[in-house]
Amino acid sequence: MFICLSGTPKSMIAGLSLVCKRHVYQPFRKIFPDGEQYLRFDTNLKGVELSVVQSFYPEQDRKIVELYLALEALTGLGAKPKNVIALYVAYARQDKRFLSGEPISVKALYQGLRLYSVERFITVDVHSPQIFIDIGLDTVNIIPHGFMIEQLGLKIDIVLAPDKGALQRALNVANKFNVTYDYLDKFRDRVTGEITIDSKALDVKGKNVVIVDDIISTGKTIAKAAEVLYKAGANNVYAVVTHALLSRESLDILSKAGLSRLVISNTIEQQLDLPSWITVIDLSPILCNVL
Ligand code: R5P
Repeated sequence: MFICLSGTPKSMIAGLSLVCKRHVYQPFRKIFPDGEQYLRFDTNLKGVELSVVQSFYPEQDRKIVELYLALEALTGLGAKPKNVIALYVAYARQDKRFLSGEPISVKALYQGLRLYSVERFITVDVHSPQIFIDIGLDTVNIIPHGFMIEQLGLKIDIVLAPDKGALQRALNVANKFNVTYDYLDKFRDRVTGEITIDSKALDVKGKNVVIVDDIISTGKTIAKAAEVLYKAGANNVYAVVTHALLSRESLDILSKAGLSRLVISNTIEQQLDLPSWITVIDLSPILCNVL
């Protein structure tokens, strides 16, 4: 049985129910006048093995608290929350002390899961799976780009990562489709946030290029990469990105980039109506497989 908390996108809930053919349950929830949360499972779950699903965006802090309230309540009922499926993991990028005096946010927020009978922490394209393993969680990290490209039937000639650190994603896809892969040189100005991307004189003339990445936030990385690749003569530039934290501003930036298609997944419930050049892929089939 799946317990779907409030961050779980509607299309994911439908997929988990129809594709995985498992019962989906959502707790009763309310917010007290002072802003605190309340939830309740008004059903008998004694001895039942569960997968608790949550996505921690938007309202990251509230969604994390909701997960802990749910785990405590389920434990109190004698249920067995064996898997926590974190579709989008908030605070994942603060996985080390970059400067002295900073917290390791991942540690602060997720090591508490060890207090419950959680056996597996299932994440989707999380920034650094290793930190979750280091804090004692048996972590399975799903990388969905190959599946997403397959679902859409995109014809691609070359796969690119927007920076060297993301090369493994490009390699996975390239192996699956037997095409070449490489990375772009990305530099982000830490003060202005401006992004510079260099195509490193890659040969993309007349080719169908796919950029694979984990997150769209401002949209500048993908937009800049597309601009550089079209200038270098690419035929089509597609972007396949797991987590889309889309805002009006990022959609404007991306729409000017002229992408042939932006493919995102349903790890996050979109707050805006999406234009026709964006396709959302349901990842529930991969989750069913992992379970
Ligand atoms: C960076 O390390 C990530 O992989 C993404 O490339 C980045 O978060 C995208 O951010 P934005 O859309 O703001 O350029």
